Amino acid sequence: PGFTVEILPELDSTNSELMRRSRDGRSEPVLLVAERQTAGRGRLGRGWQSAAGDSLTFSLGVPLAPADWSGLSLAVGASVAEALHPAIRLKWPNDLWLDDRKLGGILIETASFGTGSAGGRYAVVGIGLNLAPRPAEGLSTPPAALRELLPYAQAPDVLQLVAAPLVADVLRFAQAGFEAFHSHFDARDALRGRAVTLSDGSAGVAQGVSESGSLLVHTAAGLQAVSSSEVSVRPA
Ligand code: BTN
Repeated sequence: PGFTVEILPELDSTNSELMRRSRDGRSEPVLLVAERQTAGRGRLGRGWQSAAGDSLTFSLGVPLAPADWSGLSLAVGASVAEALHPAIRLKWPNDLWLDDRKLGGILIETASFGTGSAGGRYAVVGIGLNLAPRPAEGLSTPPAALRELLPYAQAPDVLQLVAAPLVADVLRFAQAGFEAFHSHFDARDALRGRAVTLSDGSAGVAQGVSESGSLLVHTAAGLQAVSSSEVSVRPA
């Protein structure tokens, strides 16, 4: 599928910029890269900090109307991990992990454009990947860096590897849903079989994900399907 790539030296946030542009309702997928973000955003209102050259920060904007949006972040994670390295694992629902440390994150936002039959939904899939190691900065574990796996990785090369598969996979998701990615996610699921704690305080053992991409957790109350929560791995 065709798509345009736009690289800018600085933006507040590639997600914010594509959300602003979503009103135009462009039909061609756009991949917007910022060499530096001044107000990078993470999930749950958190920030995403990265220094120029130390990370790859970009967003894919595409008109999309899947029957069910849940599971898109899992499909995106699988796509990026597969394009980059077999050692990269996926921490439900939005993180790329290397040896239980965060290598990258995904922030998906959606918007509506136009009205009636001239309107539709627009998805912004934002991805931040750490390229160079950096200090823990208050995090409990230091983040991982792609150069631990690919020592000479530079942002343009990494973008080259992930871009085309990502566009193809996001469009495939719109047609086929999470089902087409379930086994790909399973193969890299970092939580399966591990003791986890959910943000409501409940604890259990992760059992993979459901057909819609919910996290399955075996708790004292039985098997629960969790569609949105923070999850942390309990130390063994
Ligand atoms: C998270 O881990 O909470 C998600 C982080 C997502 C960061 C990327 S960087 C490119 C895009 N623009 C943003 O402002 N955020 C995403």
